[in-house]
Amino acid sequence: MSTIEGQPDAPVRPSDVPGIELSNFLTIPQLGFGVWQIDNNEVVDAVGHALATGYRLIDTAQGYDNEEGVGRAIRESAVPRGDIFLTSKLRTKAMGLDGAQRGVEASLQALGTDYLDLMLIHWPTPAHNQYVDTWKGLIAARENGLVRAVGVSNFTRAQLERIIDETGVIPVVDQIETHPHFQQPDMLAYFADRGIHHQAYSPLGSGQVLDDPVIAKIARTVGKSPAQVILRWHIQRGSIVIPKSTHAERIDENFDVFDFTLDDADMGRIHRLDDPANGRTGSDPETFNDLY
Ligand code: A2P
Repeated sequence: MSTIEGQPDAPVRPSDVPGIELSNFLTIPQLGFGVWQIDNNEVVDAVGHALATGYRLIDTAQGYDNEEGVGRAIRESAVPRGDIFLTSKLRTKAMGLDGAQRGVEASLQALGTDYLDLMLIHWPTPAHNQYVDTWKGLIAARENGLVRAVGVSNFTRAQLERIIDETGVIPVVDQIETHPHFQQPDMLAYFADRGIHHQAYSPLGSGQVLDDPVIAKIARTVGKSPAQVILRWHIQRGSIVIPKSTHAERIDENFDVFDFTLDDADMGRIHRLDDPANGRTGSDPETFNDLY
């Protein structure tokens, strides 16, 4: 990746990123680096640069086909593994009680590490109706010490209630698409009730929200970039946020969001951009049943 080169100028220290205490007392950084749509070669430089910049949360998935490169970047970095919060997610073929446990082992092997900080069920794939057993498999992997915490992604409220009812174990996070055009207010209220932390994927709307004129205007007023304004909005809502970029200067820029605050008027302006009917940029979890 030609754009990742040289030494990063790191104005923000890892310790400037607030830590969020999960329900099992693990602490997760509120801002991390997401690697969806970065290929296995490119991801080595991107994660290396993110770690040098100060990111300490790295979020990958089996389905991204880049765990091997993520693991290589972590091993080659000067940052000790113990200082990094590493998340992966089960592919939708790794379902069921045994499938989930074998899936965790496959991720550990690909990443070249002996534990994950957090493992998620990536999609509920409701047509296959296996997510309760898969959840039991992740719980077993946690009990065996292979993962420190377990959670889900793309789960609806009803699906969360079902796995909690059937196991008594509450996921520490639900990672769902969230950005100014798709704000998920009902889910955030429900998470707060249940002690589940919200993780925002596609926090910049896969880049599509960066051109919003309201965001651009706020960015000019506060002297920050549109990406920084959007990330700051997530942070002030209390969400854990994992922007992706393959450009060194953007990786740095996205980390530099702790020296300004959006006031209530600007938070309100962004709040009014929510467009639940049209704002989603990714797959709808209620109908996504692909096996990969
Ligand atoms: P690139 O990887 O070429 O830098 P999300 O995190 O919501 O999935 O958004 C990722 C998209 O937003 C990618 O297309 C990424 O492009 C782009 N992006 C990430 N950070 C920035 C930034 N600071 N400025 C402009 N575009 C950005």
